[in-house]
Amino acid sequence: MKSRSSWAEPYKIKMVELLKMTTLQQRKKAIAAAGYNTFLLKSEDVYIDLLTDSGTSAMSDIQWAGMMRGDEAYAGSRNYYNLEKAVKETYGYAYLVPTHQGRGAEHLISTILIKKGDIIPGNMYFTTTRLHQELAGGQFRDIIIDEAHDPASLHPFKGNVDLEKLEKLIRQHGAEKIPYVCIATTVNMAGGQPISIDNLRQVRELTARHGIRIIHDMTRVAENAYFIQQREPGYKRKSIARIVREICDLTDGATMSAKKDALVNIGGFLALNDWDVFEEARNLVVVYEGLHTYGGLAGRDMEAMAIGIRESIDQNHIHARVGQVEYLGQQLIDAGIPIVQPIGSHGVFLDASQILPHIPQDQFPAQTLAAHLYMDAGIRAMERGVVSAGRDPKTGKHRYPKLELVRLTIPRRVYTQAHMDVIAESVMRVYNRRSQIKGMKMVYEPTYLRFFQARFEPV
Ligand code: F0G
Repeated sequence: MKSRSSWAEPYKIKMVELLKMTTLQQRKKAIAAAGYNTFLLKSEDVYIDLLTDSGTSAMSDIQWAGMMRGDEAYAGSRNYYNLEKAVKETYGYAYLVPTHQGRGAEHLISTILIKKGDIIPGNMYFTTTRLHQELAGGQFRDIIIDEAHDPASLHPFKGNVDLEKLEKLIRQHGAEKIPYVCIATTVNMAGGQPISIDNLRQVRELTARHGIRIIHDMTRVAENAYFIQQREPGYKRKSIARIVREICDLTDGATMSAKKDALVNIGGFLALNDWDVFEEARNLVVVYEGLHTYGGLAGRDMEAMAIGIRESIDQNHIHARVGQVEYLGQQLIDAGIPIVQPIGSHGVFLDASQILPHIPQDQFPAQTLAAHLYMDAGIRAMERGVVSAGRDPKTGKHRYPKLELVRLTIPRRVYTQAHMDVIAESVMRVYNRRSQIKGMKMVYEPTYLRFFQARFEPV
């Protein structure tokens, strides 16, 4: 085993939340009642909740103290100004529009910049991001390197853009059809994989030549910065704060789901350098989210976010956060279980197509695996495969992604190393009886973002 420098948590525990323990029989009943969709489980029936790292963080004592300093004035809350300062100082973007969460910001930027028939290249899709682009009349194009679609590739920066793919799109459609390139740090659907500064700089040069903006999905930017520090030549001695700033400085604006990196249970924002775009966003936010100084958030939420942003770039925090994910991932690698490698920043992604090769993709191997994981020990994971990919709006057919994954997403500052051990043991048990597991059929399918509410039955 490779040696590790300890990532022990830079905090101690002041309060605990008690968990309900369930029996196998109770869990079988619960998952059947949930249509074999882990999104439809009641959280009190879950022992270890790895559905998402979104909004599930434990806040610090300082953030909780900040909640008490909430200024709930309708307009001009002091917490808004604190948040604006935190965003400007940490990320460098000039203008801030708070939103209730990331998709609120995606909605605004897509509405403002995308015209019908436009093309939006991105380093892999994200569910809500792509849907907002499509609803605004645009089409998403994947420009991530091929390695990102290969769970076994050990490329250190699987979030990188394939510059040839991007150049080809610009040649084919013309720069005027491309309102912006969407760059995510880290790339969620690829398994929490980072983009390198070097690659981002090349994307910047290429887009600048054509007058194309870069809009940064900065949901997990501190985690991306950590990987750059660990892996990219010349960055070992640079602070996370400095690398985060370097990333942001290469882009023109950003959408943020503060429910991840920024350690809050709710919140997000759109940040911009361009006054005209900002002005339009500030007009539109009033229609969809709330006044431009609260964007759908309470004052106390903005205060917790301002504090969380600063905590998120602390070296010890980010080392422990990513270290815990790596600890779990390494146990699974050692047990011979196929996972996406290198281990990502916010979770461990099981390769369901390798684990359940006897289940065809239209019988939802990842969805099936997630249901069995829940039944085994009450661990709730999330499908990130054909169900999440949805249907092609033109053909109406399933989109068959190359990655058919189950995501074990680790909330920040919530679970212990012993929890990681229990998770690894449960995955191994399910893996050992994988040949007996049968696929599923979809019996209810919503129109948008179907993975949230679809229902299934075993075949
Ligand atoms: N971008 C990325 C990369 C995300 O991971 C998410 C959310 C969003 C945008 C949307 O933000 O939820 O605040 O509206 N990801 C969550 C997840 C839901 O579980 O991966 P939101």
